[in-house]
Amino acid sequence: MRINTIIFAAGLLASVLGIPAGAAGAAGTPAENTPRNFRLSQNLMYEKCMACHTRSYNLPFYANIPGIQDIIKKDYRDGLRALDLSEEFSPASPLPEKVNESTLAKLEWVTLNYTMPPAKFAMVHWGSRLTEKERKDILEWVRITRARYYATGTASADMANEPLQPLPESIPVNFPKAELGKRLFEDKRLSADDTVACVTCHAHDKAGTDNLRFSKGIREQLGNINAPTAYNAVFHIRQFWDGRAADLQEQAAGPPLNPVEMGYKDWEQIIAKLADDKTFTSDFKAEYPDGWSQKSITDAIAEYEKLLLTPNSRFDKWLQGKNYILNNEEKAGYRRFKAYRCASCHVGKAVGGQSFEYMDLKKNYFADRGSPLESDIGLKGFTKKDADLHKFKVPSLRNVELTWPYLHDGTAATLAETVRIMGVYLAGIEVPQKDRRLIVAFLRTLTGEHHGQPLGGKAVAN
Ligand code: HEC
Ligand code: HEC
Ligand code: HEC
Repeated sequence: MRINTIIFAAGLLASVLGIPAGAAGAAGTPAENTPRNFRLSQNLMYEKCMACHTRSYNLPFYANIPGIQDIIKKDYRDGLRALDLSEEFSPASPLPEKVNESTLAKLEWVTLNYTMPPAKFAMVHWGSRLTEKERKDILEWVRITRARYYATGTASADMANEPLQPLPESIPVNFPKAELGKRLFEDKRLSADDTVACVTCHAHDKAGTDNLRFSKGIREQLGNINAPTAYNAVFHIRQFWDGRAADLQEQAAGPPLNPVEMGYKDWEQIIAKLADDKTFTSDFKAEYPDGWSQKSITDAIAEYEKLLLTPNSRFDKWLQGKNYILNNEEKAGYRRFKAYRCASCHVGKAVGGQSFEYMDLKKNYFADRGSPLESDIGLKGFTKKDADLHKFKVPSLRNVELTWPYLHDGTAATLAETVRIMGVYLAGIEVPQKDRRLIVAFLRTLTGEHHGQPLGGKAVAN
């Protein structure tokens, strides 16, 4: 009788968690025994979270309770801006197994810090708070999902569930093609007047950037957006600040035809120029039998960019278990970096590149800065959706001490100032000067190596 009750209870629990009853029956859910298909309860997320975090969701009954209506509507709008689950979570289907790495880190942060649902809401809506059991479930689900989809597997056991992961030493590459890609990346014939190569704006001695506010293209023309580094870009979910290129190959097709960058009219012109070089053409045909084309040229360049990795930073070594390698300030800086929720956007092995976020999330950055730029439009420029105005791809913070100046508008000259700006506009808090200093100390530990040599570049002073 008692045993039956226990089995029944376990089954009930399993159905709440979405685990097949047989799997949960065994031994509860300690970490190692957690079944592969451990899923977060559909009900938990939909009843307690989704109302404020999806577009498709009907505002629930309590939105009509007089008095709290206005609060709820504001929360709904702010909640959606902070975290929009509409694309990943649909009320019609089970919770997805794989969730965006940044979404995971955000869910983890609010759960660890007891901030969701918002306190003023939980006060008036009894039973909306997360129970301890639900908190544990969310954290366990984050841990499992991170381990399965995002961990690089090289962190030491006690660091395996960190939001930041060690950068892989290498990823699979076709070397002969990458070699051709390197030649193209460094070849000024990719610009109409033979003055600019990819490497001009993504220089090896400047950590893959040009250290200019705006890049100089052919005929000294200035762009209107800061050049991000090409190093580690292979790990980004999409390319460009506004994500208009799906991957590196699509990205590489952009600059050659961009009138202010490399200035060609069409690929025929590029191909004609390259075809004049008989040696290069025959080397190229050895790997790409069909010869020069937009597709083969951009494929080779994208292949080369897989080699532009910068592993073995001091931070990576620390994650891998060399506890002594960071000093106390740097370690404290990393703890602050997580506490101020920086790591929920600057997440994963690239320390960024996984999501698009509002630059004016917590306060109107653009009004405060003034001097509007065409590039301020952000993701909306690509998707044309009003909801994407001022959203930018989170930049990678790998080697960030070398990739100055900062932000899409290139206005932040120092790391200390950038951290201050991030605090105010993205995290919603004035980061005290002492903590800014610690965070900058941590950020400097993210400088890696390229082919076993310290990455080239000049570190920003502050
Ligand atoms: C009543 C509306 C409401 C509910 C319900 C709600 N949130 Fe939020 N959520 C917000 C608002 C508003 C913000 C913006 C930050 C703030 O104002 O504190 C936010 C922000 C967030 C963020 C982004 C990080 C941050 O703090 O800005 C995450 C992650 C999040 N919520 C997760 C959750 C989860 C998980 C649940 C369910 C347990 C939940 N939310 C329930 C309104 C809500
Ligand atoms: C004139 C300077 C210039 C040249 C030449 C140039 N780039 Fe860029 N690159 C930029 C700028 C500026 C951006 C950001 C543009 C944007 O996001 O709208 C960028 C973005 C990128 C990105 C995206 C990185 C990220 O985090 O999203 C990659 C990768 C890249 N360039 C590689 C290349 C390659 C490959 C070439 C040669 C085919 C090249 N670039 C030529 C300036 C340049
Ligand atoms: C909600 C997501 C989010 C949070 C939280 C956040 N960032 Fe950012 N971070 C971004 C985005 C988006 C950008 C690019 C914005 C732009 O240029 O318009 C950025 C840019 C940066 C840059 C400049 C990188 C470059 O190459 O230009 C640094 C440094 C940085 N963040 C550090 C931090 C620190 C430190 C914190 C915590 C205090 C933090 N960020 C919190 C999203 C976030």
